[in-house]
Amino acid sequence: MNILFAASEAVPFAASGGLADVIGSLPHALVEKGHDCRIVMPYYKSIKTAHPELCERLTQVTHFTVDVSWRKQYCGIYTAVWNGVTYYLLDNEYYFKRDGLYGFYDDCERFVFFSRAVLEMLRCIDFKPDIINENDWQTALIPVFYQVFYKYQQGFQNIKHVFTIHNIQYQGNYGREVLNEVMGIPLYHMGILEYDGAINMMKGAIETADKITTVSPSYAWEILDPWYSHGLDRILVNKQYKLSGILNGIDTELYNPETDDLIAKKFSAKHPSGKNACKEALLAELALQEGDEPVIGIVTRFVSHKGIDLIRYVFEDIVNMGFKFAILGSGERIYEDFFSEMQSRYPDQVSVTLGFQPDLARKIYAGSDMFLMPSQSEPCGLAQMIAMRYGTIPIVRETGGLRDSVKDDGNHDGNGFTFKTYNAHDMLDAVKRAKATYDNTKEWKALRKRALKSDFSWSASADSYLALYQELCKQ
Ligand code: GLC
Repeated sequence: MNILFAASEAVPFAASGGLADVIGSLPHALVEKGHDCRIVMPYYKSIKTAHPELCERLTQVTHFTVDVSWRKQYCGIYTAVWNGVTYYLLDNEYYFKRDGLYGFYDDCERFVFFSRAVLEMLRCIDFKPDIINENDWQTALIPVFYQVFYKYQQGFQNIKHVFTIHNIQYQGNYGREVLNEVMGIPLYHMGILEYDGAINMMKGAIETADKITTVSPSYAWEILDPWYSHGLDRILVNKQYKLSGILNGIDTELYNPETDDLIAKKFSAKHPSGKNACKEALLAELALQEGDEPVIGIVTRFVSHKGIDLIRYVFEDIVNMGFKFAILGSGERIYEDFFSEMQSRYPDQVSVTLGFQPDLARKIYAGSDMFLMPSQSEPCGLAQMIAMRYGTIPIVRETGGLRDSVKDDGNHDGNGFTFKTYNAHDMLDAVKRAKATYDNTKEWKALRKRALKSDFSWSASADSYLALYQELCKQ
């Protein structure tokens, strides 16, 4: 099968979140299973500045013109093969030569351009996809344009569209004037994109894609509920017949405690003792007090839906139980200030590093005993899986992908600790249960072994995507 992934970011070229990890690893798994799976993404300025070595691999295929309503815009196609997967990078310096990936006044126009360019590109390259898998609002207009302009054109027939929701919070919501002025879509198609009096790009994809997927089975039903849907539950309930969830995997070669050169000592489920050396090295690097007390790792964006308010509410209770914290992240000022204050109040027990540091993240995954992730909502979440891959026991709220990847150890057959209600004391109770198990060395070792043995490779999930694609191709 020929599959094209369209996304606004992908490892190794540009990354700001979990989306990039998924696009950087799922296509590779599909290629390994014998399919021709390729990726198309924007050619951002940051790729040229941060990854000149990758740019050297790129060759220009051709260029063409894209209609952005009445505008005619240049688009260059660059290509390179990385990790067995062909990447296409679409170049237009007016839209993409900027500092950062998103957050500009004309993001709507930038990704309308990109979405239209993805379809136009198909006239110029030697690759006809059976499936286009779009991801999040930035590519949500591809199935819409396909339905409105391309479906019956020669060379475009029978392309099926799968739209994957990684995060429903960002929908691409704009005033109604963009329909004609930016998208160039006639007013009589307003119904496809209009939602609650505005133009909603994600809603357009939900209407027009052949299938909608989310990145975990639980999130697929959670978003039918207003508590999770950010306003889209009505339309999703209508389109439920084409909605399903497939749990993400992680790159188990990149995240591998047996081969990881960044960590102090390598280890595995069979030979876990190296993990202690990783813990000692982490405590030393972060200037935390030595000792056997459990270390909780937190690697996250400091935003409310990650559950930081719960952590804040009972943080000192946990510190007073003897725990140490290795915290890495950045985000809202109020949370950054809180954690910094905790660090100055408990310098021996609390370490906070503000920023995005992948190497330190890896050391926290490897050197912590537990990993706290009490998200309010979590479409999938990759950190809990990476933590388990390094034998670090997750403490999570039962939501989305956290619910689908972590099994509570209440019956001594789980790989972590979970709680249901979004409540700080329920979280605290899970932390206390984790501590009780930690204090029983034999039980803890068995639990750690189960976590280390959990399989989060892409193989099974890639099969689920293939089954979905195959079902569509038969139609
Ligand atoms: C988004 C979601 C996260 C998910 C990731 C990859 O960042 O918030 O839960 O793991 O996408 O699908």
